[in-house]
Amino acid sequence: MRNSVETSLDTARTGPEGTPCATSGRKIKMMSLEQAREWLRDATAVAVLTGAGISAESGVPTFRGAGGLWKDYKPEDLATPEAFARDPRLVWEWYNWRRETIKQAKPNAGHAALVRLEIQKPHFTLITQNVDGLHDMAGSGRILKLHGDIWRMRCTSCGSNWPDRRAPLPKLPPHCGCGGLARPGVVWFGEPLPEGMMQEAEHATLAAQVLLVVGTSAQVYPAAGLIPLAKQAGARVIQVNLEPTPYSGIVDCALEGPAGEILPQLI
Ligand code: OAD
Repeated sequence: MRNSVETSLDTARTGPEGTPCATSGRKIKMMSLEQAREWLRDATAVAVLTGAGISAESGVPTFRGAGGLWKDYKPEDLATPEAFARDPRLVWEWYNWRRETIKQAKPNAGHAALVRLEIQKPHFTLITQNVDGLHDMAGSGRILKLHGDIWRMRCTSCGSNWPDRRAPLPKLPPHCGCGGLARPGVVWFGEPLPEGMMQEAEHATLAAQVLLVVGTSAQVYPAAGLIPLAKQAGARVIQVNLEPTPYSGIVDCALEGPAGEILPQLI
């Protein structure tokens, strides 16, 4: 799934090898949490990068890790433009099922904590790889949705773009009013991100004193590249995840545990 365009979705690269920051053992964990809380409290400019893990406690399956969707499904069959060209109905059946699952989900305490953080900080940017709309539902303001939005559709003929929250959809595959085939409003592997969005995300990351990285396996680029970018720019990076990621060794603090429990303690 490597793609020559730097800003298109790609999992082929790997992050740096690294050992997780010392958060094992209850005492060290508490100290790390205290330190991270202080960094966050003192920062006036904060950027947050979220991934599927923040919605896991809302009942939305992640892609990797325990119970991850990519264990049972292949991304190249369901999340590429080639897969859609080959079999639009199959791709839509999968998205229709995901829409039905997500429709039942409600934001959790992790989403809510990020809304509070946004209110506290003069400069705040929420960058998400999630397409589930739970940050919107929680009340977050401006959200940079790097991978699009599952609740939007786009016409493959006329290019128009519209919201659609029906789940299940009455007819598959759905069509546009112009008669053209509609596709999910998400970014697939090998496709470019929405225009200008990665630049905005990089800008916010470079300006941030703290980058908070929540519930992402940090394996998909260009989003994962924001982590080393923040480090190079001198920001503190705090990671919240159930398990280590390829960047655990370079972040300033890796807090291991569920986002719905850790974020309310951090914020
Ligand atoms: P992944 O599914 O790759 O990673 C989810 C991460 O969340 C894992 O590292 C888990 O350990 C962690 N996690 C699970 N439950 C958690 C919890 N309760 N609290 C904290 N962390 C938890 O999701 P992403 O990194 O978002 O793209 O994946 C990036 C992209 O790859 C997605 O946007 C999607 C996928 O393929 C497309 O479909 C195009």
